[in-house]
Amino acid sequence: MSAEIIDINSAQPAAPASDKQRVIIFDTTLRDGEQSPGASMTFEEKLEVADMLDELGVDVIEAGFPIASEGDFEAVSAIARRVKNASVAGLARASAKDIDRCGEAVRHARKPRIHTFVSTSPLHMKYKLQKEPSEVLEMVISQVTRARNLVEDVEWSAEDGTRTEHDFLCRCVEAAIKAGATTINIPDTVGYTVPEEYEAIFRMLHERVPNAGKAIFSVHCHNDLGLAVANTLAGLAGGARQIECTVNGIGERAGNAALEEVVMALRTRADVLNYSNGVDSTMLMRASRLVAGVTSFPVQYNKAIVGRNAFAHESGIHQDGMLKNAQTYEIMTPESVGVSKTSLVMGKHSGRHAFKEKLKELGYTLGDNAVEDAFKRFKDLADRKKIIYDEDIEALVDDQIGHSGERIKVEALTVIAGTMGPQTATLTLDIDGQHVTKQAVGNGPVDAIFNAIKALAPHEGKLELYKVHAVTEGTDAQAEVSVRLAEDGRSVTGRGADPDTMVASARAYVAALEKLIARRQKGAPAPITARLKP
Ligand code: KIV
Ligand code: ZN
Repeated sequence: MSAEIIDINSAQPAAPASDKQRVIIFDTTLRDGEQSPGASMTFEEKLEVADMLDELGVDVIEAGFPIASEGDFEAVSAIARRVKNASVAGLARASAKDIDRCGEAVRHARKPRIHTFVSTSPLHMKYKLQKEPSEVLEMVISQVTRARNLVEDVEWSAEDGTRTEHDFLCRCVEAAIKAGATTINIPDTVGYTVPEEYEAIFRMLHERVPNAGKAIFSVHCHNDLGLAVANTLAGLAGGARQIECTVNGIGERAGNAALEEVVMALRTRADVLNYSNGVDSTMLMRASRLVAGVTSFPVQYNKAIVGRNAFAHESGIHQDGMLKNAQTYEIMTPESVGVSKTSLVMGKHSGRHAFKEKLKELGYTLGDNAVEDAFKRFKDLADRKKIIYDEDIEALVDDQIGHSGERIKVEALTVIAGTMGPQTATLTLDIDGQHVTKQAVGNGPVDAIFNAIKALAPHEGKLELYKVHAVTEGTDAQAEVSVRLAEDGRSVTGRGADPDTMVASARAYVAALEKLIARRQKGAPAPITARLKP
């Protein structure tokens, strides 16, 4: 490795861009990511994530598993129709029904792909599929052939590929390519492999499979041993040229290889990793925030690239080094992943001017009235909270944007909590300009608040999720609450932020309720409730 000081802003490549080998970035946030317990997204949220991924520059968006549910099918179809640049893939098991449904869902994509898979390891074939290897081989041929009759671009995956016997893996891969598969994925389904072994599998396949040159090989790594990114890079060294990954590394169990980590490893170590890709790294932080927000999966503070501490330096020695030359402790710039340098420290003495500058720095463009509203809320927060972090301001503005155009507002809330009970909430809502108040009891203060809302604005929505997340550390941190309500098989998520968790909870519930109402009303706005009485 060269010891010379490089310009980390441009991450100087070792070879000219034209000599670099292009790798395909296949994002599966909406499929493998969404499959992780608790990470499900609503239809609208999936569209928002798909739009962001397309703008980010990924090559393939795996939009879902169309046979899994009507909702998945609709989401994949809608994404297929709207995505402008990327290929849109759907997942299908090795069955005719799955493949046909998947073909139907991706049909309208500019670049449709069917991704079909079957287990090939002895363990999976014996216990999960209860099939002989010869039967599995037949399934590979017939299902890839079927998929290829529907679309040109077919990916075949050998589920549990890293625990598959090599001879059998070679036979399956050869057969899949012969039947028309254009991409061959060897997933480390259970996150078991290690880099040397994974690299060797791809080398072995390239050496032993006679038609290997006709397909692109793909890596798909799970993070059960924390090796997903390392294994991904090893797969490239072995000859793979497609990377399957997810934003924030979400996915089954310990997750998948994190897109932002893979992309930044390739960019930062371009001197030894001679590959190019189409991702705009300056959008990585935005992508991370969006996915964390819609899934309500917080990003761990020390998460590589997008964690809030990823570019924070606290120790005196580090700060001293940073002031002398940022490269002493920073291997990539915050700007290269879309993080603006923290230049302004905000607090209760900050004025409107500094606040406006901070909003600009954080990427918000608000009208004068919205800035004024946000400034008032910021001042109120600064009176209650010692340190105001960028995240606090973002939560505050996101909360405000999420509530603009609102028909229901939380006007006032008083809560009685504690051991004596009953926990009671007295809530005043502004509904279409009318103030209404209700006192309600509940099984805890949050329940009491939600009961008061239900009494003031009756609805059938069922509470599916209630999640609290502290935006920053400390007991005076802002709480960010997510509430998911379901009605007629569809769900919506509302968010609210405030230093008072109870106020944030009321705001989040009301935001979700607004979305439910908006969804119901296709025509002219109807009265929210027939029972606007205290
Ligand atoms: O991990 C896995 O094996 C998968 C396949 C369906 C590709 O997600
Ligand atoms: Zn997977």
